[in-house]
Amino acid sequence: MVEMAPRDGLQHEASLVPTAVKIELIERLAHCGLRHIEAASFVSPKWVPQMADGQAVLTGIKRQPGVIYSALTPNLQGLKAALAAGADQVAVFTAASESFCQHNINTSIADSLARFAPLLALAKTHNIAVRGYVSTALDCPYEGPITPAAVARVASALYQLGCTEISLGDTLGTGTPKRVLAMLHAVSQEVPMAQLAVHFHDSYGQALANIYAALEQGIRIIDSSVAGLGGCPYAPGASGNVASEDVVYLLQGLGVHAGVNQDDLVQTGRWISQQLGRHNGSKTGLAWPE
Ligand code: HMG
Ligand code: MG
Repeated sequence: MVEMAPRDGLQHEASLVPTAVKIELIERLAHCGLRHIEAASFVSPKWVPQMADGQAVLTGIKRQPGVIYSALTPNLQGLKAALAAGADQVAVFTAASESFCQHNINTSIADSLARFAPLLALAKTHNIAVRGYVSTALDCPYEGPITPAAVARVASALYQLGCTEISLGDTLGTGTPKRVLAMLHAVSQEVPMAQLAVHFHDSYGQALANIYAALEQGIRIIDSSVAGLGGCPYAPGASGNVASEDVVYLLQGLGVHAGVNQDDLVQTGRWISQQLGRHNGSKTGLAWPE
């Protein structure tokens, strides 16, 4: 499981979340047993003001051994800042649709990939693994449905550049299992299934069904966010990521041990929802006894 709440979960919050709350959230998530936490984002503070305190967040956390604290980096400038702050891994992000790419990172898909090449080279000299995100892997808010072939092309390009893991983003949360399987089928011709992750937003309540379908297909890396927090500032109408509590509940029912303490995770989801004054977006979080 790759925990998204401190980054994807908070990036869209309208009022600035105090750095101390972000730090406590990350520490609590690590305490729950999560072993990869996307902790910050080194993007332009003009584009996403909520993520401007990445340096303070990463340097402020009490680290737990064995936990990967990663950060989103759109360019070399972001990577250098992430390295200075002590990120264990970084992630680059582009999209399968031109319009979303333009809206999100102000460049074309081809230029984004060209921009990532020197970033990956520098990361390599620091022995830092780079994850690659492909947003709009099913639908684009500006262009509508995206073909599996288009997703496979971009995933393949990121893999060829040296990304160790490719996360396929259902940015809008519109996907259903049949389309997810067609997309995974196309992408897995280019990138080994073991290096693919799924990243579902849950706008239409399909995320768990999609995850189950993906698991059956051989996917083993799942992005999720405690309390179902999240949303991209450049994907209007999209709701949060699938809730981590709900994913753990599903996995437990399947006999898969995620190494996460469900009760601690539920308490963390309740705590952050209260901090943000938000309805808890996890069904498990709501149903779990006090
Ligand atoms: P740009 O304006 O084209 O960049 O933005 P630029 O290179 O022309 O630089 C303009 C200014 O930004 C300069 O400052 C740079 O220093 C600064 P100025 O001289 O004007 O004062 N700048 C930076 N500052 C800090 N850190 C940096 C950085 N880079 C430039 N790394 C850029 C291009 C990519 C920077 C911008 O478009 C951007 O930051 N976009 C990020 C958008 C974002 O964070 N979106 C949400 C994350 S993606 C997501 O949520 C999807 C995902 O969850 C998967 C899914 O669900 O699909 C991953
Ligand atoms: Mg996302």
